[in-house]
Amino acid sequence: MIVLGLFFFQLLNIRLLRAACLSNCSTIDIKYPFGTDSSCARPGFELTCNQSFQPPKLFLANTSIEVLNISYSDSTALVRSKVVSTIQSNYSDSWSGFPTNGPYTISITQNKFVAVGCGTLAQLSSLQQPQQVISACASICVGQTSTPTDGSCTGIGCCKSSIPTSLSSFEFQLTSLNQMSLSGKNYSNKAFIAEETWLNTNVRAMENQYTNVTDENSLVVPVLLDWKINNLSCAKANRTSDYVCSSNSACVDYNNSTGYQCKCLNGYDGNPYMKDGCQDIDECKQLNKYPCDGTCVNSQGSYTCICKDGKRSSNCTMSNGKELIPLAGSDLATLLVF
Ligand SMILES: *[C@@H]1O[C@H](CO)[C@@H](O)[C@H](O)[C@H]1NC(C)=O
Ligand SMILES: *[C@@H]1O[C@H](CO)[C@@H](O)[C@H](O)[C@H]1NC(C)=O
Ligand SMILES: *[C@@H]1O[C@H](CO)[C@@H](O)[C@H](O)[C@H]1NC(C)=O
Ligand SMILES: *[C@@H]1O[C@H](CO)[C@@H](O)[C@H](O)[C@H]1NC(C)=O
Ligand SMILES: *[C@@H]1O[C@H](CO)[C@@H](O)[C@H](O)[C@H]1NC(C)=O
Ligand SMILES: *[C@@H]1O[C@H](CO)[C@@H](O)[C@H](O)[C@H]1NC(C)=O
Ligand SMILES: *[C@@H]1O[C@H](CO)[C@@H](O)[C@H](O)[C@H]1NC(C)=O
Ligand SMILES: *[C@@H]1O[C@H](CO)[C@@H](O)[C@H](O)[C@H]1NC(C)=O
Ligand SMILES: *[C@@H]1O[C@H](CO)[C@@H](O)[C@H](O)[C@H]1NC(C)=O
Ligand SMILES: *[C@@H]1O[C@H](CO)[C@@H](O)[C@H](O)[C@H]1NC(C)=O
Ligand SMILES: *[C@@H]1O[C@H](CO)[C@@H](O)[C@H](O)[C@H]1NC(C)=O
Ligand SMILES: *[C@@H]1O[C@H](CO)[C@@H](O)[C@H](O)[C@H]1NC(C)=O
Repeated sequence: MIVLGLFFFQLLNIRLLRAACLSNCSTIDIKYPFGTDSSCARPGFELTCNQSFQPPKLFLANTSIEVLNISYSDSTALVRSKVVSTIQSNYSDSWSGFPTNGPYTISITQNKFVAVGCGTLAQLSSLQQPQQVISACASICVGQTSTPTDGSCTGIGCCKSSIPTSLSSFEFQLTSLNQMSLSGKNYSNKAFIAEETWLNTNVRAMENQYTNVTDENSLVVPVLLDWKINNLSCAKANRTSDYVCSSNSACVDYNNSTGYQCKCLNGYDGNPYMKDGCQDIDECKQLNKYPCDGTCVNSQGSYTCICKDGKRSSNCTMSNGKELIPLAGSDLATLLVF
């Protein structure tokens, strides 16, 4: 009886463990180093899939920061940015919640600080020491009929500026330049950090929501995070037992050795953090990317394009862009003639 009970208890236990380690949350694949349970995640890479949402939503650890997508080959993640929105003339709000000393930093090359509004000076400050303004821009509207945004985000209805240092907690300040109530409308001024490629295609779409003070919660703005394995440089990490870069991948120091990332070698693609995660790219199936006007032969990490009928052209007798020295004697003869 007891033995049987124990058996069922263990069965239940295994079930629970399995259920805790999800392989996806809605459309987002969850793979190592990430995991929805500490038993399958590398420390610091825990995620929470909240299935009380329909469809389920994924969050960083137990924070309120929603994950929109994860790229394993680039070591990046898109998360939902905080959108600060106000009709007050002097307003500030903060955004923190990225785990300190965690694996995440806001990419300073692929994000911009953005303000959308009519007559607003937006400032972004560091909440970490020393507290200082690290980015600012002003957005104005000219004339009663001017379109709030023209899609370029260069100061009319929308402005953007660079973020020079990567931080994990921010303060937003929006100060009115007394241009509100254009055409008798209530313009809400907004500020956020956004992925620049998203911004370039979505500024126009934001016009619709521009005057809508109540709908800031429906605006989903993505911000790109870099993630890295803390805390060692490649040279030190590869001597440790928890070194994670798999075969056919290389270790790359992150930002002057504050950690490292893994990248699949040329000719391979996939998740370099998982055993056998870097898979050979079959170049012969992507001839638009890897041109070959001969016979394409795929190989591990590479491919060869063998010329038809012994004819040479710019695309054949090539291997990943390098000319092959033909091995056969007859080929050698042809080569010497040339
Ligand atoms: C994982 O993906 C499957 C198939 O798309 C889906 O049915 C399932 O609901 C997803 N799981 C979660 C937790 O979202
Ligand atoms: C999931 O989301 C709901 C609604 O926001 C919240 O009440 C609940 O605490 C969340 N569950 C977890 C495990 O975070
Ligand atoms: C979740 O939150 C608690 C309390 O804030 C904290 O102690 C714990 O480390 C957090 N878990 C993760 C995985 O971050
Ligand atoms: C998520 O990222 C993957 C790989 O980078 C990409 O193929 C996919 O389209 C992305 N999904 C969304 C919803 O952006
Ligand atoms: C706005 O508020 C901040 C602090 O809340 C204050 O330091 C600043 O002087 C105010 N600016 C204006 C223009 O009122
Ligand atoms: C590199 O690290 C320093 C100090 O931690 C930080 O100020 C800087 O923003 C980082 N650079 C990048 C590109 O993340
Ligand atoms: C603007 O907003 C204020 C406060 O929400 C409200 O009292 C006022 O009626 C609004 N004006 C217009 C024209 O919508
Ligand atoms: C403003 O937002 C509310 C709530 O999201 C929505 O019901 C309404 O249709 C929006 N109005 C406009 C003009 O987009
Ligand atoms: C990583 O570096 C930070 C800052 O130097 C330090 O506080 C932390 O203890 C280190 N973490 C590990 C796991 O070594
Ligand atoms: C560790 O990294 C160093 C420098 O990148 C390299 O020379 C060495 O061969 C690596 N060792 C191992 C065991 O991979
Ligand atoms: C990298 O770190 C070393 C030692 O901490 C420092 O001397 C050097 O200036 C840093 N280089 C850059 C580019 O940050
Ligand atoms: C080589 O491939 C490129 C791209 O597919 C193509 O434009 C070019 O014409 C090819 N060259 C020859 C000699 O076939």
